[in-house]
Amino acid sequence: MCGITGCVTKQGNVANILYNSLKRLEYRGYDSAGVSTVYQNNLIVKKDAGKIDEIHSRLNFLDLPGNIGIAHTRWATHGAPSQVNAHPHLDCTGKIAVVHNGVLENFLELKQDLEARKHIFKSKTDTEVIPHLIEESLKMGKNFTEAVLEAVRKLRGSYAIAVLYAGEPDKIIVARNESPIVIGLSKEMNLVASDVAAVIEYTNKVVFLENGDLAVVTSDNFQIFRIDSGIPVQRKTTELNWTLEMAAKGGYPHYMLKEIFDQPNVLREALRIQDKYLDLLTEFLDRGREIFLLASGTSHNACIVGSYMFSKLARLTTYPVIASEFIENYGSSIGIDTVILALSQSGETADVLTSLEYARYRAATIIGITNVLGSTLTRIARAYVLQNAGPEIGVAATKTFTSQLMVLALLALRLARKRGKVSQYEIDEFQEELRLVPQLVEKTLELSDEPIKKLSKETARFSSMFFLGRGLSYATALEARLKIMELSYIPCIAYPAGESKHGPISVIEEGYPVFFIAPNDETRKHIIGNIMEMKARGARIYCIGAEGDEEIKQLSDWYLGLPSTHPLLSPIVYVIPFQLLAYYTAVEKGYDPDKPRNLAKSVTVL
Ligand code: M6R
Repeated sequence: MCGITGCVTKQGNVANILYNSLKRLEYRGYDSAGVSTVYQNNLIVKKDAGKIDEIHSRLNFLDLPGNIGIAHTRWATHGAPSQVNAHPHLDCTGKIAVVHNGVLENFLELKQDLEARKHIFKSKTDTEVIPHLIEESLKMGKNFTEAVLEAVRKLRGSYAIAVLYAGEPDKIIVARNESPIVIGLSKEMNLVASDVAAVIEYTNKVVFLENGDLAVVTSDNFQIFRIDSGIPVQRKTTELNWTLEMAAKGGYPHYMLKEIFDQPNVLREALRIQDKYLDLLTEFLDRGREIFLLASGTSHNACIVGSYMFSKLARLTTYPVIASEFIENYGSSIGIDTVILALSQSGETADVLTSLEYARYRAATIIGITNVLGSTLTRIARAYVLQNAGPEIGVAATKTFTSQLMVLALLALRLARKRGKVSQYEIDEFQEELRLVPQLVEKTLELSDEPIKKLSKETARFSSMFFLGRGLSYATALEARLKIMELSYIPCIAYPAGESKHGPISVIEEGYPVFFIAPNDETRKHIIGNIMEMKARGARIYCIGAEGDEEIKQLSDWYLGLPSTHPLLSPIVYVIPFQLLAYYTAVEKGYDPDKPRNLAKSVTVL
């Protein structure tokens, strides 16, 4: 996730407005930034790696001349954070500048084709193909609008782009597919941006573009076209009564809620991760004699899901280990045949990094999954995959958890193909179901939000809760427990449901709340038995199960039915109501869910 913005004023300099708007978007990414304006028919660009203010103190964005410009703040997905990889990107003539938020799936083939036509590329980004595609169309005699239309029709993947052309310096062209774009309208200027936060200081009149829209924006007008047909369309103008703070959170009261609702799109981006990175990790995993999945906190819960997936789909045994326990427990036996797959959204967790340094010293192979390009994990690992989830601001991991699960599922699929231990039918079925996950999560959010909000009035009064699941749902139970404990400070227990009778069941007394995770998979019949055991001892049963499962619904005091998924993918869907429950319970208790007490987003101490 990156932030893009642009502005064209009737008169007066644009630099200050671009700088302010860019600062409002910094929460979307902050590893590099850049601004481009047009002055006297020339394009001027300032860009570098670092946070916006660091770059500004070196380059001074405010002295850029001109009344039209675009700007970008980056969260790297292709190419490390560096000056050349920072946006805007230019064509060969230096007259077209493009800023982009999204991931292009077909950039390699487009790049090869453009290189064959003698285009020179400077960066490692996917974005750079766009100005060169536009340059090609301009060369063929098209005007600016036609050239951008022609270029974006060739793109596959997600994009929100803003384009500036020194040859037609009165307009910015924006286009979107899956990544957001809003146009802000005012008497003095028109603005474009990834979200309302960047424009609200100047206007509350906005127009949201829809997927497949392209807009030509001048200082006093705008016109929207459909990308596929080129036909003009109307979109309604909305007047927002948002404050600056509300705008930064996309209209949600907290970042955490915004990040929970971002998950369908984040999962779509995870599905776009390039094959070459997944293939490399698959290769290392397949070669290992013993394989550890190493992480802390929520990332460790993702590792538990990963180990079930690898075992069930690829018949590969792996050991999920809590990072802070790794050296004590396994340190003396690891060696050259050991492969460690480390998961860390920040890539900076000290417990993880210390274990990895130790393992590296003993010649183990280290590979990783992280959300932060340039983090220490990316420097230690022989190979890594980036999650493409964008920065997560809420301390509680939500969208980065489900995107980790998606990456693990993609790896499991590749391992299954490579190892050939399950039928082609099973592999194809899993692949099909993976593609459906973003929309299932969308539906789950719709189904869960209201009932969970209501339930939180009850849970806020609990002094303890129990979470039970079997198989993969055990990991969901662990994650539910972690989310609720860290945000609402209610001590909770999570167990594999089958293990609960070996001790923990003694805590049950009349009315004690027990949450069951009960998807319609092979664990269902045993879960029914576990529900009966708890009911018999007076527990109050809260169950999240499959839509239409009347039998379990009858057994429950409270029931939420979710759409059915492939059994191996159920944690991605079933964790959603628990994220919402953690959020609403914390709010109900008057706590700040974005900043729970005693915690930090990235734990860099041992
Ligand atoms: O950045 P990491 O994934 O390495 O972080 C690991 C944990 O510190 C993190 O998941 C923590 O448990 C979160 N607060 C959970 O919401």
